[in-house]
Amino acid sequence: MKFNPASLLLLASTATSTYTYERLDKNDALLVILDLQEGLFSLARDYDPILYRNAIYAHAELGRVFDLPVILTTSAETGPNAPLPNEFIEWYPDAPFIKRNGEVNAWDNPEFREAVIAANKSQIILGGITTDVCTAFLALSLRDAGYKVYANQEASGTTTELIRNEANNRMRDAGVQILSYFAIICELMRDWRNTPGAVELFPILDKYYPAYGMLARGHRAAVENGTILPGEDILP
Ligand SMILES: *[C@@H]1O[C@H](CO)[C@@H](O)[C@H](O)[C@H]1NC(C)=O
Ligand SMILES: *[C@@H]1O[C@H](CO)[C@@H](O)[C@H](O)[C@H]1NC(C)=O
Repeated sequence: MKFNPASLLLLASTATSTYTYERLDKNDALLVILDLQEGLFSLARDYDPILYRNAIYAHAELGRVFDLPVILTTSAETGPNAPLPNEFIEWYPDAPFIKRNGEVNAWDNPEFREAVIAANKSQIILGGITTDVCTAFLALSLRDAGYKVYANQEASGTTTELIRNEANNRMRDAGVQILSYFAIICELMRDWRNTPGAVELFPILDKYYPAYGMLARGHRAAVENGTILPGEDILP
């Protein structure tokens, strides 16, 4: 086949015009701490509990790291679902905290809806237990109401991987972006030279994303005291 640069160009422009990359922006984002309750925690069986505990604390602390507005909400917390971990409440003493007494989908609660509207943000970051119910129901309602929705997939938990994957597919079909914690942090930060940037985020990554924390520690040690070992010096 003869190479035709014009047809390639046409192809490229058609391909790019169908997608808009809607990045998280710390000035437009609201963080929702959704039903990450001590009782519900036991339903999150698609993650190792140590990883999952780390993930919900990482999610909840995003508001402090990026100075985002935060809404906390719980479902039937005086029943078996139990309260949120105390730290989450202590981190955001002035944030709206809506204790739902019946509504499964937080969007069905008028006080919650009003808090979201009052925050006046176009992007909602959320994660909840369970992925298929608490996270998906709210995410779908928020999409329906015109918000851009970013599901922190590590902060949501459910009973099985099958159910998690189907819930994520259902949300994706509705235009919800399913992200990792590291992707959320990096989209909000954008550039290591920003504030928050490297100075604020290395300690947070060391706490919640230790692969990067250890990498930074190792790099520091190498720069301060490192020597190149015989054998390393002959590598290409
Ligand atoms: C809501 O946000 C928009 C965009 O940032 C801004 O122009 C507007 O004034 C805000 N409205 C209120 C009531 O704060
Ligand atoms: C470098 O070595 C010194 C002296 O042994 C030690 O005090 C310091 O903690 C080391 N620095 C790092 C980053 O390991």
